[in-house]
Formats: sequence, structure tokens, C-alpha cells
Amino acid sequence: MSNWQQPDKRKETHIDSCSVYSLKKWQLMLMTPANSRANYPDHSSIADNAIGIGLRSTHHQQILQQLPKVGWLEVHSENFFIENSAQRQVLDQLAEHYPLSFHGIGLSLGSTDPLNQSHLQQMKALIDCYKPALISEHLSWSSNNSRYFNDLLPVPYTQESLDIFCDRLNQVQDFLGRPLLIENPTAYLSFSDSSMHEWEFLNEIQRRCQCGLLLDLNNIYVNSINLGLNAQEYLRQIDVEAVREIHLAGFTRRQLDNAEILIDTHGSKVSKPVWQLFRDFRQSCNAPALVEWDTDIPALEELLSQAEMASQHQEAVASKEQKF
Ligand SMILES: [Fe+2]
Repeated sequence: MSNWQQPDKRKETHIDSCSVYSLKKWQLMLMTPANSRANYPDHSSIADNAIGIGLRSTHHQQILQQLPKVGWLEVHSENFFIENSAQRQVLDQLAEHYPLSFHGIGLSLGSTDPLNQSHLQQMKALIDCYKPALISEHLSWSSNNSRYFNDLLPVPYTQESLDIFCDRLNQVQDFLGRPLLIENPTAYLSFSDSSMHEWEFLNEIQRRCQCGLLLDLNNIYVNSINLGLNAQEYLRQIDVEAVREIHLAGFTRRQLDNAEILIDTHGSKVSKPVWQLFRDFRQSCNAPALVEWDTDIPALEELLSQAEMASQHQEAVASKEQKF
């Protein structure tokens, strides 16, 4: 049972950027001949094997001008909460050309704080406006006693934290009226009282909440090096049917005392071992995949070339499968 109250309905006379977007869309449909309208992409879903890129503000204008051929765009939901902002105006235009996914970083689902109602209401307003193909959040927490940390922190994999996470995720999904995808995190320490593997924890969340999973292959690789996990075992054990999205990204090497650790900075090209995990996982999963690049953001051309590389890897997997 959800404690959330529906937000007040907007006055009918109030025209916000969402209404403007809807109006523009209807005008476009009315003005477009039926035969070309048939070519207008269906933005309510993202095609299997589609390759997308994370949309970052540095690239907004260039993408608007060039409309590069990518399968979809993923945005950080919180950057677009403010109606009539410059960001929303960009999103209004891009939504006419690309399927969208909204990737949240602020729900703090693993926390024991009460859910942030204001945040949820803003999220729902954004989702109701653009109706993105996918909505995702993280298996992590980032708030305590209403103080927010600038990081996505891991949870212990125990029955207690599983109950807490599932209860909160169910509340969110009830409120939004849609399932979320939950992304596997990176961690630099593991909890001694964890009683299950991360893939078991994720599979159980999926079973209890009927959500989807977002599998970040870079995060799995980073954890495999830092925590000594078996990445191949992870891919074998995760519920592949529940994986609806794949993330690809780069990491940074850091020296810590006498050891080298990997940090998931999303600030470099996808590494060879992560491409290999992608090829391995593509043999059983055709979920759309996305190249994330969040720090030291490169020229758009370099980001697009990483997306092209993802296409080439999956084509190589497909052609190999056809030979047998
Ligand atoms: Fe990710």
C-alpha cells in the first residue's frame, strides 16, 4: 500500500512545456501526409539491439543540428525536472527524433530515509510529459537523514536491505504507474554481512517487484577486478530475460597504496575486456545498449564512434552465430 498522494492536477488553462510539446506533436501529425507519418519513429519503445548514447549538455546543440543516427538517447532525469528550462526545450526537440530513456540518480532507493515525495512528483511529471521508453534507477543509496551524498553508494546484500529496497521500489512503481529498470552498482568494498551474491540480490528484486534490470557491463568488470568477482559467472547467473538495457562505459586506473584499483569514472573509451563481456552477453541478450560518457566528455564524434563500435561488436556476434 503506497503512502503517496497524487500530485494536484494542473489547471486546464495552464500551458507548460509538456503541453507545448504535446501540441507540437499533434500539429506535426496533422500537417504530415499519412505516408510520411508512417515513417515517423515509434518512440514508445526502443528496438532490440539498438545502440544509443548518453545525452550530455556539451553535445545538445550539435545533436540538434546534425541529428546523428543513433538508436536512442538516455538522459539523467533530474537535469530536466524544471519546466520551461533551456534543457526542456532541447528535450522537446529531441523527443521528436529519438526514443528516450530516463536514467535517475536521485531516488536513493537503498536508503532508509522516507522517499523524497517532491523528487518523485517531479519525476512523475517528467515521465508523464515525455513517456520515455525506459526508466531506470540504481541499486544504491545516496541519502541519510535528508543529507545527500554526491555518490551512488552500495547496499549490503542481506534479507533486511532486500526488504527495504523492494518496499521502496514497489512504492515508486505504484506511484509512477510503470516498472523501473534497476542498475547494478560499482563498489570498492564489500560488506562482511552480505549473505548473497549481487546477481542473486538483483534477481530477487526483479522477482518481487516485477521490475526490469539494467546491466552495466563496465560496473561488473570494475567490481570483478576490485573485489575479485567472476564476471562470466555473473553473466551466467543474472536473469537474462529481465535485462532490458545494457550500459557500456570506460573506467580509470588509480593507484591505492600498493594496489591498482579501477574507478568507474565513465571518462574514457570502453575497454577491451568490457567489449568482450558485451560480445559474450550479446549471445543471449538483445536488449538495447548504451554508451555512457560522463567525465572528460569527448567530442560528439568520438562518442558516436564508440556507439558504432558497439554495433560492429554485435554484428560480429550475429554473423558468427549464423555460421553455426
Ligand atoms: Fe551505467
